[in-house]
Amino acid sequence: MEDRAGSLDRRTLLRLGALAAAGFGGAGLVAACGGSSKHGARPSAPLGRPSTTVVDPSLPWWLRGDFAPVAKEVETFDLRVEGSLPKELAGLYVRNGSNPKPGWSPHWFLGDGMVHGVMIEDGRASWYRNRYVHTTLLAAGGGLTAKGAPGGAAGLSNVSVVHHAGRLLTLGEVGFPYELRATDLSTVGSYDFAGRLKGNMTAHPKIDPVTGAMHFFGYNFAEPFLEYHVADRDGTLVSSQPVSVKAATMIHDFAITERDVVFWEMPVLFDMKLAIKMVSEARSTVMPYVWKPAYGSRLGVMPLGGPASAIRWVEIEPCYVFHGMNAWRAGDEVVIDVCRLQKVFVAGAALGLPPRLHRWRINTNGPNLGFRDEVRSDLDADLPSIDRRYVGRTYRHGWRVETRSTPDDVVLAGAVHIDAQTGTETRWDPGPQFSSGEWLFVATGPDEAEGVVMTYVYDHAADTSSLVVLDARDIGAGPVARIALPQRVPYGFHATWVPATAA
Ligand SMILES: [Fe+2]
Repeated sequence: MEDRAGSLDRRTLLRLGALAAAGFGGAGLVAACGGSSKHGARPSAPLGRPSTTVVDPSLPWWLRGDFAPVAKEVETFDLRVEGSLPKELAGLYVRNGSNPKPGWSPHWFLGDGMVHGVMIEDGRASWYRNRYVHTTLLAAGGGLTAKGAPGGAAGLSNVSVVHHAGRLLTLGEVGFPYELRATDLSTVGSYDFAGRLKGNMTAHPKIDPVTGAMHFFGYNFAEPFLEYHVADRDGTLVSSQPVSVKAATMIHDFAITERDVVFWEMPVLFDMKLAIKMVSEARSTVMPYVWKPAYGSRLGVMPLGGPASAIRWVEIEPCYVFHGMNAWRAGDEVVIDVCRLQKVFVAGAALGLPPRLHRWRINTNGPNLGFRDEVRSDLDADLPSIDRRYVGRTYRHGWRVETRSTPDDVVLAGAVHIDAQTGTETRWDPGPQFSSGEWLFVATGPDEAEGVVMTYVYDHAADTSSLVVLDARDIGAGPVARIALPQRVPYGFHATWVPATAA
């Protein structure tokens, strides 16, 4: 009888979820869930999961609930659209993430890459597909194993996607990129820039909006521990230079201005013994990175394009930054907005202590770099996005996703917009029934922030996902469109947009 009662209860909850979803395209749900607010005026609805989410507590947080991998590769055409998609929006939204094929991974960051894509054109959503990135690791059964060290083609390719010089590349931070076909998300194969790339490639390259060059780096587990690379606008790798650092640390992102490269080296050190332990144990939960604050944190500034030997460093308080939002030149200063965490990979927080937006000013005048730190927001939010036509330039608009990290869980919730000049913030909270992800900006017009932000939103009650589209300049108004998807899309990492003219 208990099972029957539980089943009936779940059906009721599913109906409630469907009713709520029906109002998703308008202001009704926004108002019901607290909706938008200016900075300082928080909605009453708490962030977090409702009790309807099916969670297996025996699994680690990155394998259960809305993190759980999906088993099927699906393709569906002519998706149902609620609301209205801007007619200028024509292209492919594609997002990468961890989807461990063996059903187990040692950490959220360490599952096999899977992309989920939606093609949008003429106000329609013409298809959805999810596809594994067909890496050599996937062909061997999936995941990292003790059979070989990761690197080269042997990478998970699970973190992000970049479109440069006509190529759609998945990136996994360790190993080479993999090239995909934008037409159906199938895998072409690993990509090493015609043999010129010798080491790893970051998942966060920066494309200079003026020159079209792609600047990127790779951190390696043996020397050179850090390399800086430039691919020209045609995609030819034209420069690779070692950057002098003392050890192999996890460097997830960096920044450029119109004339500078900015690195942040922070005390998350690679540990080979832990790496061996990770791949040797069944159902391992070992991460091969260790928080060692005694190593210190420092920022390095070097000329854009090099030489890397000209890099200058300034020590700062130990902390960690996964993601920068943007950087730019202001006279003698390099200014950079970052999502700063006090520490990561420590007990008491699934990923790290809450990310807060900081503005760092690095004064490059004189023999030693100067440093100033300013807190820009007291909201916990990460996965920043900007109008990429303003990469490395003074900008006004940035978007993040609100986060909650507890000892055994991470929740990604609503969208936050910040006016980078005034600091004014606006939120859109989808309510505790929903979780979201990185809000990718896609332009529909020539001016900064003239466009939309979009991400996959999961409905815990209905156990469905949708691609939700907000007006980038008015996120508080709630969704302008919602594209229904044929299956749940697990939490993931980073997305990109491939314009229809290039797909
Ligand atoms: Fe990232």
